[in-house]
Amino acid sequence: MPVRPVLRMGDPRLLLQSEPVHEFDTPELHAFIKDMFDTMNSFNGVGIAAPQIGINKRIIIFSVNKNPRYPYAEFVPTTILINPQIIFLDHEMEDGWEGCLSVPGIRGLVPRYLNLKYQGYDPLGNLIEREAHNFHARVLQHECDHLDGVLFPRRIKDLTMIGFEEEVKDTINAFYLQKNK
Ligand code: NI
Repeated sequence: MPVRPVLRMGDPRLLLQSEPVHEFDTPELHAFIKDMFDTMNSFNGVGIAAPQIGINKRIIIFSVNKNPRYPYAEFVPTTILINPQIIFLDHEMEDGWEGCLSVPGIRGLVPRYLNLKYQGYDPLGNLIEREAHNFHARVLQHECDHLDGVLFPRRIKDLTMIGFEEEVKDTINAFYLQKNK
């Protein structure tokens, strides 16, 4: 069962707190992570969290390398992260436009912390520890939010800054042109 259906906003399962993984390197875990990749890639996602495909476990994956849905995004290494934890390095935040496979067709302007450290485990149970900034840090916060039942619209501060992709396309382009000046 490679590509799985993605739950959409309004499904109560997306509001649940996910459970930690206790068993690593099992055939079920590997098969499930493969399904997460197949599902993420089939929808051009930059990340996906297990609860989005109906599995209530603390597993996220992400990867950014020239993604057509996020032309302004920086490279983010392909990562599988189990039981992730975030430590924010300071209080600096930045706005950026986000989308989500569970909120299809919608983009919103979301403030996120810019600088953080994270840790978690790979599927074999090896510790992963990294520092992340900018879009890498943004993706991590977005995916970790899923594990706590939070979708990005709840993080939006200015509710005029959410809309359908087609309608906000010019606003998004202008935002990044200004930012990258
Ligand atoms: Ni999402």
